[in-house]
Amino acid sequence: MTNRTFTMIKPDATSNGHTGAILAMINAAGFRIVAMKMTHLSREKAGDFYAVHRERPFYGELVEFMSRGPITAAILEKENAVEDFRKLIGATNPANAEEGTIRKKFATSLGENAIHGSDSNENAAIEGDFFFSKLEQF
Ligand code: CMP
Repeated sequence: MTNRTFTMIKPDATSNGHTGAILAMINAAGFRIVAMKMTHLSREKAGDFYAVHRERPFYGELVEFMSRGPITAAILEKENAVEDFRKLIGATNPANAEEGTIRKKFATSLGENAIHGSDSNENAAIEGDFFFSKLEQF
């Protein structure tokens, strides 16, 4: 499981029609999709997912945004998945993201940054289990 990471294509990228292009970039970078679903988070579920940020000033805005429309959640497999995926998506703030990264291409702001990627193996497992039962992880 240490070669797995978790991602969400966020409501901004979904409503802008970028889901297919982002999935193609993920596949082209060598990640295998081992779980995937499109869903719409309630405010409560979005708040639970980002509970670690509860004390941050942007928490309310983040919860509103993440529950605004559908997202695509997925578990991805590749050697060194967490680190390599964070390179592929680029910096949290798209203004600082390198050319060729998903956020450079598709994100519009720090708050609406198109895609999420787990920051550790431990969080990848927690976040994957938040969305997928063991029977849905292949
Ligand atoms: P993500 O990698 O999904 O993890 C937490 C999210 O909080 C982050 O992407 C951003 O979308 C959001 N975020 C982080 N910092 C800020 C900020 N200063 N203002 C608004 N949103 C933020």
